[in-house]
Amino acid sequence: MEAPKQTPTSKAGDWRSYQRVILPPVRDLHLLDVALRNGAYTALEKILKEGWERKRLVDEVKASGLRGRGGAGFSTGLKWSFMPPDKPGQPRYLACNGDESEPGTFKDRQIFEYNPHLLFEGMMMGAYGIGAHTAYLYVRGEYADYISHMERELAKAYAKGLVGKNLFGTGWDCDIVIHKGAGAYICGEESSLMESLEGKRAYPRIKPPFPAQKGLWANPTTINNVETLACVPLIVHKGASWFAGLGAPKHPGPLLYGVSGHVNRPGVYEYPTGMLLTDLIYEVCGGIRGGKKLKAVVPGGSSVPVLTAEMCEGVTMDAESMRDGGSMLGTAGVLVMDEDVDMVSFLRRTTHFYHHESCGQCTPCREGTGWLEKLVTRIDEGEGNLRDLDLLISLCDNMEGRTVCALADAAAWPVRWTVTRFRSEFEAKCKPSLVPGGFVSPETLGEAVADPGYVLSD
Ligand SMILES: Cc1cc2nc3c(=O)[nH]c(=O)nc-3n(C[C@H](O)[C@H](O)[C@H](O)COP(=O)(O)O)c2cc1C
Ligand code: SF4
Repeated sequence: MEAPKQTPTSKAGDWRSYQRVILPPVRDLHLLDVALRNGAYTALEKILKEGWERKRLVDEVKASGLRGRGGAGFSTGLKWSFMPPDKPGQPRYLACNGDESEPGTFKDRQIFEYNPHLLFEGMMMGAYGIGAHTAYLYVRGEYADYISHMERELAKAYAKGLVGKNLFGTGWDCDIVIHKGAGAYICGEESSLMESLEGKRAYPRIKPPFPAQKGLWANPTTINNVETLACVPLIVHKGASWFAGLGAPKHPGPLLYGVSGHVNRPGVYEYPTGMLLTDLIYEVCGGIRGGKKLKAVVPGGSSVPVLTAEMCEGVTMDAESMRDGGSMLGTAGVLVMDEDVDMVSFLRRTTHFYHHESCGQCTPCREGTGWLEKLVTRIDEGEGNLRDLDLLISLCDNMEGRTVCALADAAAWPVRWTVTRFRSEFEAKCKPSLVPGGFVSPETLGEAVADPGYVLSD
């Protein structure tokens, strides 16, 4: 007998009554005096005045279950514990990744705009946990307004003695440096971010050595995303068990969901992890615009595998459920597409982006991203044929896991999964003479497929 189908349930508990903590509804919270009235810097004050051992903070963050919000979902406490023992005279650094360049991702900027002091506090707590006294905030250059506003707020915090020397009279020092990036997607990859911070061209580094061993200026460094670090003061305020008990058990905590595309109410929404993707689309965002049908969703920024409408049923917004459901949580930047979207032209735009953004260091990525764009463009313009579809998948095989950084994978996954999951749309755009059941008889089709005159042209 067939097992009864499980009714999908949200892991986000009673999300409708959830009270926001990263972006609480407090007017002018971005201003230091308002932030101070609402508890800013008190978690840092607590660990400093109570003389917490660094390990205690790392253990607390581990116990909270916090996983990085920058895309890979790695355990934050574990990452901090990879920092080597102190060496006299050797500096250590924290770098906060605010490059936010993955298409469909626009949540870190909400923190820059609405709650920068939570971030500054989280960065200093991160620095404390790893034994650093300097924390860099790398922000993409396009966020010029947020940068100026954060610089103003940071200067106020320095003036009040909340950042800098001898914090809370405990003798502990911590500087925050805001660094404006130069606007390339690759600068968000952690090793190229460090190259860029050092004033060099943002070419990713070969790993190992990992940043904890050899990071900024060859010193031990930890890199964390903005939202990740903003969670740290909340863990100390409310306790690791509060954090661990919120949302999906294996991927807990509050999460900023950035929803864009064909929904009635796009935006950034804060709820616990583990929400049903369909609750997010239909309840939070008011469903599909114009009463149309849902066609596809990219649930975690442009590089993660696309889901068909059927695949969205029952999947929840956490790493495990997304993996089992055929995609990844990534940055929780959810791109929603309605029934009118042409998946070939969607993929054409995506491949153009990754081709444009490849740094060119590795051959499979430099050449592969170019060929992906060329082939998808050719299909989109009605000049492709069926073999191009297999060629696309074979190009992906030759890119994934074969390069210095993960940009090549990020470029290949959308192609692999859009072509596989929406193949009939791609076939329909291929030249009719090579489509089975098209103008040509099966025998002639065989001849055409075997035609050695088939050449890729520039
Ligand atoms: C091509 C590429 C671009 C990336 N862009 C970003 C980014 O804009 N922001 C970010 O936080 N992480 C980005 N990442 C992930 C970072 O390399 C790194 O894993 C992350 O900042 C670690 O922070 P977390 O552990 O707090 O998530 C990118 C990775 C790759 C391969
Ligand atoms: S994978 Fe691409 S972006 Fe990454 S280092 Fe190689 S060429 Fe550069």
